[in-house]
Amino acid sequence: MRVRLDDPIDLDAFRQHARQLLAEGVPPDRVEWNGERGAGLFDEANDAAPSPSIAGAPHAVPASFVALCGDVILHRDPQRFALMYRLLWRLAHEPALRHDPLDADMMQAQLMAKAVHRDIHKMRAFVRFTKVMGEDGLERHVAWFEPDHHIVEANAPFFARRFAQMRWAILTPERCVEWDGQALAFGEGADRREKPPPDAGEQLWLTYYEHIFNPARLKVAMMRREMPRRYWHNLPEAALIQPITGAAQARSQSMIDAPPTAARRIRAPIALHLRPADGVAPADLAELRAAAHACRDCPIGALATQAVCGEGPLAPRHMLVGEQPGDQEDLAGRPFVGPAGQLLDRAMAQLGWARDTVYLANAVKHFKYELRGKRRIHKTAAQREAEACAHWLDSEISLVRPQGLVALGATAARALLGRPVAVQAERGAWLHERRDGRPVFVTLHPSALLRLADGERAEAYARWLDDLERARGTVSAATAA
Ligand code: URA
Repeated sequence: MRVRLDDPIDLDAFRQHARQLLAEGVPPDRVEWNGERGAGLFDEANDAAPSPSIAGAPHAVPASFVALCGDVILHRDPQRFALMYRLLWRLAHEPALRHDPLDADMMQAQLMAKAVHRDIHKMRAFVRFTKVMGEDGLERHVAWFEPDHHIVEANAPFFARRFAQMRWAILTPERCVEWDGQALAFGEGADRREKPPPDAGEQLWLTYYEHIFNPARLKVAMMRREMPRRYWHNLPEAALIQPITGAAQARSQSMIDAPPTAARRIRAPIALHLRPADGVAPADLAELRAAAHACRDCPIGALATQAVCGEGPLAPRHMLVGEQPGDQEDLAGRPFVGPAGQLLDRAMAQLGWARDTVYLANAVKHFKYELRGKRRIHKTAAQREAEACAHWLDSEISLVRPQGLVALGATAARALLGRPVAVQAERGAWLHERRDGRPVFVTLHPSALLRLADGERAEAYARWLDDLERARGTVSAATAA
């Protein structure tokens, strides 16, 4: 029996056919499936058009199997339909199958699902848009990507959410997708020659990539694994990989040899009367700043240039809380102005989220460091130091009155939730645990991304953007919940 599926990723059509074949008792080795776009092998009428009466009959398969089929159908392997039907047949006839984790068919399906997931992630990490001006005078962003599997439709809603404000198109050899700001539209595949030429934004991206590249963290094998060579020809930054990895050793050495940044002490005299009396919260942010500056409840204040309190509007939707000021924040007296802040700025700009609409603060108000020579090397604040600082953060929250709190990293999450937090396990959702009713959203600290090896960063960054986007978009709903 031959079955032709008009759309190679139409799970409902596959399920209808499969149910009917199963109901009619047709064994898997008697069915030939064809569902490839343009394959034209079986263009004659379908031998096995599903009959509505039988196709509707229910078959008890585990929900996880339906989800597995949803992934496997996106795989490029033409044998995927045969495999899924064979598994369905076997689930119906071999009850023990669902408890056998080592079954070869099941393992193959799981490997295929994993390959599809990986392809989906790679597309999210490696699509690079180029700005083009359309004939209608409107700006569009166009990207060329070559997925391994049929993932364009499955991935499109992600890009629509991420780049909701942009008009964009992603061209691939098999399918194209376009977003006009309102709706997604899909079309036939494109030719590689339709890929637009580089724009000025691409040069900016290259400069950024060159600057964040840390030769001391270069791990070539991992980079190759996470950013396989087959993606390189569509990644503008790949042109930089050979030169910068080639020069990495010399650059690491020159970083070691470079003279240290001098620690600058610009301590202002402390007016002791600005310390709040025990248990009295500061009346406003100016008083908070002065009092935190004078604080010696733990030893780190004595070494820092100044306390760095937050900045931003009062009563914002979001207050983003980091760990503690770094070297540059300590000198400037402002939060998130160093490398971590620049990465945060870049992410927010990509999401169209203006920095001046959020209040940015830190859990710990003074810079903790250790001197190596004259260089000040960041040290994570000890728990007792973060605890000693907690009342400043609480006062800041009460004075600023944000709707929701976004914890960047474990120190901030612990300070806001009052318990240890495993960031990877709890990231990405609003948590309702605080006594003041403010929801807390946990995600990574930007420094965690900067510390990653080059090959891992793009994917982790894409996931982090996802978190930030969710935090940004859902705070009112979360507050109302
Ligand atoms: N890291 C932080 O947590 N806060 C800053 O202000 C800068 C870096």
